[in-house]
Amino acid sequence: MKHFISLENLDLEIIKDLVNDAVSFKKRNAFPNLSNHYISNLFFENSTRTKLSFEMAEKKTGIEIIYFDAESSSVKKGETLYDTVKTLSSIGVECFVIRHSQDRFYENLISQIDVPIINAGDGCGDHPTQSLLDLVTIQEEFGSFKDLNVVIVGDIVHSRVAHSDAKILKRLGANISFATPKFWQDTTMNMGTYTSLDEVISESDVVMLLRNQNERHTQHYDEKNFLSQYGLTKERASKMKSGAIIMHPAPINRNVEIDEDLIESPQSRIFTQMTNGVYARIAVLNYVFNS
Ligand code: CP
Repeated sequence: MKHFISLENLDLEIIKDLVNDAVSFKKRNAFPNLSNHYISNLFFENSTRTKLSFEMAEKKTGIEIIYFDAESSSVKKGETLYDTVKTLSSIGVECFVIRHSQDRFYENLISQIDVPIINAGDGCGDHPTQSLLDLVTIQEEFGSFKDLNVVIVGDIVHSRVAHSDAKILKRLGANISFATPKFWQDTTMNMGTYTSLDEVISESDVVMLLRNQNERHTQHYDEKNFLSQYGLTKERASKMKSGAIIMHPAPINRNVEIDEDLIESPQSRIFTQMTNGVYARIAVLNYVFNS
């Protein structure tokens, strides 16, 4: 049985295979047949892209979805995550896609259950399927990761995307730098150097913006001036080198992390990332059910 909870625990060869599988599914518009499998998507935090692109991936592979809505479920009567998973697995659900606000929610769970868990985002911890779709997007663009200059910009400390992406991109040989206000630095992250966007914009191949995670903030910050101080303005984007790309996991705070005129600019791959999310998640479902 294979869980998919973090890229950190996976061999690089498996990760490269998953990226190649996703690229191939996209190119061929052909998908593995996973019909007769049953899955539940348990989202305890809001989501548009992850939840619905998993659902699209499940439908494209023929998986039966057993729908779950936390708001109308017995979670509201105090049922624990373990009891929810145990209950659904007792009625025949074979795999769970889970997003939860608690960092490492899966730690206790995976020792108590015998069905695979796919992590769709844990608190400020990891977002491995987002990382996979980001890798697919970067590979499509550049062919490989080695020696690429990637700057990760914004709310580093609260961002599971920053944590997951920095770790895997470093392992794949990219050079990582972080551009963030001091109050959002994460001193436990030692896979790149802290700098300013102005310092590195002209030499970066990938400008990876993050969403400011307002729901996780305990202190006020100056949102009104964030774009001009730290974000991707049109002036900064004009200094990007030829062939460099803009990424953002979305949802976007328009005119906070990025000038909204850049969101659909030729350098932007933001909507390509969303498209690639479906293929990356098909690759993960195939890995969980077929390997
Ligand atoms: N990128 C991402 O995880 O978006 P959602 O929160 O909408 O799933």
